Amino acid sequence: MTKILVTGALGQIGSELTTKLIEVYGKDNVIATDIKNPKDNHLDVTYRKLDVTDIETWSDLIKSNEITEVYHLAAMLSATAAKYPLKGWELNTAPLLGLLNMANDLGIEKIFWPSSIAVYGRDAVKDFTPQGSRKNPQSLYGIAKVSGEGFCELYNKEYDVDVRSIRYPGLISWKTLPGGGTTDYAVDIYYKALEEGYYSCFLSEDTELPMMYMDDAVRATIELMQAPKENISVHSAYNIHGTAFTPKQIAQEIKKHISNFEIEYNPDYRQRIADSWPHSINDDVANRDWGWKAEYDLEKMTKVMLEKLSDKLKKPYK
Ligand SMILES: NC(=O)c1ccc[n+]([C@@H]2O[C@H](COP(=O)([O-])OP(=O)(O)OC[C@H]3O[C@@H](n4cnc5c(N)ncnc54)[C@H](O)[C@@H]3O)[C@@H](O)[C@H]2O)c1
Repeated sequence: MTKILVTGALGQIGSELTTKLIEVYGKDNVIATDIKNPKDNHLDVTYRKLDVTDIETWSDLIKSNEITEVYHLAAMLSATAAKYPLKGWELNTAPLLGLLNMANDLGIEKIFWPSSIAVYGRDAVKDFTPQGSRKNPQSLYGIAKVSGEGFCELYNKEYDVDVRSIRYPGLISWKTLPGGGTTDYAVDIYYKALEEGYYSCFLSEDTELPMMYMDDAVRATIELMQAPKENISVHSAYNIHGTAFTPKQIAQEIKKHISNFEIEYNPDYRQRIADSWPHSINDDVANRDWGWKAEYDLEKMTKVMLEKLSDKLKKPYK
């Protein structure tokens, strides 16, 4: 019997992944946790307030609910971590290590922890970055993700902990707002296009970054977790490709639907982080090991984002 606990469940990925996990495994087999107050919980699921830096409470929750799988999503994202380096480092490293360390004692059968394309730095191959490309990130967030990948490999090799990971690219969703990342512009731009017809972009027009529509990211996560153990050859984290585009290209795609949409480029501190990241990702290994293939490109995603947000915001654009 699979019993799941999700940390950071009220975040951008957590809220959509938890909804899908409930669909797949049933409401009674999923517990959502987050540091936020229960009143902020919009999910129809058992909810517990949990600070993942409090390892003792976390382990009690796992033990008392006989949890078999943990999806550990609680983290501080790249742009916020650049502002609060110490807090970011502590949140993005120690709780993962604590979880891996208690996995066998608590009978946890599988762990999912997300890494990021931020593990790649200036010396990585920029276009269609291969799985094994050089990882010397220039952001603290990226350095923490490289460490996290190292923890996962270590606990898999030394203690046989079944931990699986994906290097998510920038994630785009109409349901939940992003939580302080360098790719947040690619969600915000759709809101502003509908609400104001104008967007001031914090990255330059030709900054190409790897991106993915949330439905693809959620599907990738569940497909990886359901893949047979013997197929998993990567115990750090898998590259996955969704799509890749620049602010100028997303603006052009939006203009196909909202012809008077205007954009200006005012790069800020996030430009330096973005410049150190890959432009696009090669995911041949994920495709070989567990059959990964994305379904959404920029054109398909833009159509869905505008349709769904237009309904949500009650801002017709056609
Ligand atoms: N969103 C992206 O584009 C993206 C890309 C690459 C990797 N990731 C990774 O995916 C994971 C989830 O990201 P997200 O976008 O959903 O982030 P988010 O910021 O939207 O959500 C994180 C959640 O963690 C919670 N949280 C913060 N501190 C906590 C604590 N001490 N204890 C418990 N919960 C706490 C927050 O309340 C929030 O709900 C992170 O590991 C992130 O690094 C995200």
